[in-house]
Amino acid sequence: MDRYVIRGGTPLKGEVEISGAKNAAVAIIPATLMVEGVCRLENVPQISDVSLLLNILEQMGATVRTVNRNTVDIDCSKVEKPVAPLELMRKIRASYYLIGAALGRFGQAEVSMPGGCDIGARPIDQHIKGFKVMGAEVEVANGIIHAKVKDELVGGTVYLDMISVGATMNIMMAATLAKGKTTIENAAKEPHIVDLANFLNSMGADIRGAGTSVIRVYGTERLDGGAYSIIPDQIEAGTYMAAAAATGGEVLVKNVIPKHLDCITSKLQEMGVTVRDLGEAVLVKSDGPLSRANIKTMPYPGFPTDMQPQIGAALCLAQGTSIITESVWDSRYRYLDELKKMGAEVQIDGKTAVIEGVKSFTGAPVACSDLRAGAALVIAGLVAEGETTVEKIHYIERGYEDLIGKLRKLGADIEYLKAPIDPEQGDALRATS
Ligand code: EPZ
Repeated sequence: MDRYVIRGGTPLKGEVEISGAKNAAVAIIPATLMVEGVCRLENVPQISDVSLLLNILEQMGATVRTVNRNTVDIDCSKVEKPVAPLELMRKIRASYYLIGAALGRFGQAEVSMPGGCDIGARPIDQHIKGFKVMGAEVEVANGIIHAKVKDELVGGTVYLDMISVGATMNIMMAATLAKGKTTIENAAKEPHIVDLANFLNSMGADIRGAGTSVIRVYGTERLDGGAYSIIPDQIEAGTYMAAAAATGGEVLVKNVIPKHLDCITSKLQEMGVTVRDLGEAVLVKSDGPLSRANIKTMPYPGFPTDMQPQIGAALCLAQGTSIITESVWDSRYRYLDELKKMGAEVQIDGKTAVIEGVKSFTGAPVACSDLRAGAALVIAGLVAEGETTVEKIHYIERGYEDLIGKLRKLGADIEYLKAPIDPEQGDALRATS
């Protein structure tokens, strides 16, 4: 099995360029299905979730042209029927955005129930509730979501039972091409919600209030092509900030929107880390022991659940007792079981983790259980004395562009080992890059 091998103990120093936001890209790419023209997307992260979604669109009849490493032209104008390969869709949670997009453009959709990181139950009842308010008939059979509308979607008011990023984005997409006005109450406010609204508006939609808890969508007849640049990834940026803090380094995190990082910055400062806002970058410096802190994950602008494992790894090395409350997902502490193998002292009770800071970690073989858990294990390996091997790294490759290259540029001793093609070949082949 492919794995990372990390020899820890070196503080990270230097500069890192943040890529486009995964959770914006995995919504905007399906949204191009609604556009009858060429969409040029810039600052697209080179990650496996993006490659998979582009592949799904091509299988549906779209034309996808790579302009350069992070720019792609997508033309879905010739797509006639929204039928996508079910086995591909099952691999990624974000495939469910194809429902909202296809319902909006074609009045029908057939999408497999979503896959994605195993961080607890991931229902989509709120998405379905929104589609039904707009007049769609939705049923789930054999693991497939069948949605269709007799005439055309008609706008209405959707009051979300809980703040849901996916439901907010999916309903926004369907409403964009519905007849009349749709109001989404109790909407999520994440930066990627605003990015999707800005993308759709740049293609001719009329969406107002994204980033607040009430979003109003005024349905339009059609969307034409255009160009759009995806925002920087708030969570990738936070991951490198946490790594700089945990390793006692000094890192300039470039190509960010500091406002999106406010909650992460504030928590790191509480832990004794210096974070300076330089406009389109933040400078993170940690030159002393980390202080304990408590974390309660909340929807934006609260502390992001997608940063909980990364900060949790740093808190395992802080002086004192820290308490984490994971209020979004049911099961997002599996990374702590892996960190215990490296010396972490943690008690988990339901949604709460109590962490007793230790002086250091020792390297060990560990395995990822999901994308952000994997990032936490890498951070722990960068600090640990000795060698850490991280297995199941496909999770990490889903959401982090060129992690090895970016960390090596910061002085990390990390390499990607490909599994031996033939067990007879003995030791794993060292990856070229
Ligand atoms: C998105 O997941 C992100 N994924 C997740 O990031 C992130 O953790 C999450 O938002 C919260 O910020 C993508 O954007 C692809 P939700 P999503 O709908 O949309 C419940 C990562 O690491 N809920 O906001 O699936 C749900 O169970 C990934 O990048 C319902 O009950 O999250 C959860 O408890 C992991 N019914 C809460 O709401 C629904 O219909 C928030 O879920 C929908 C959600």
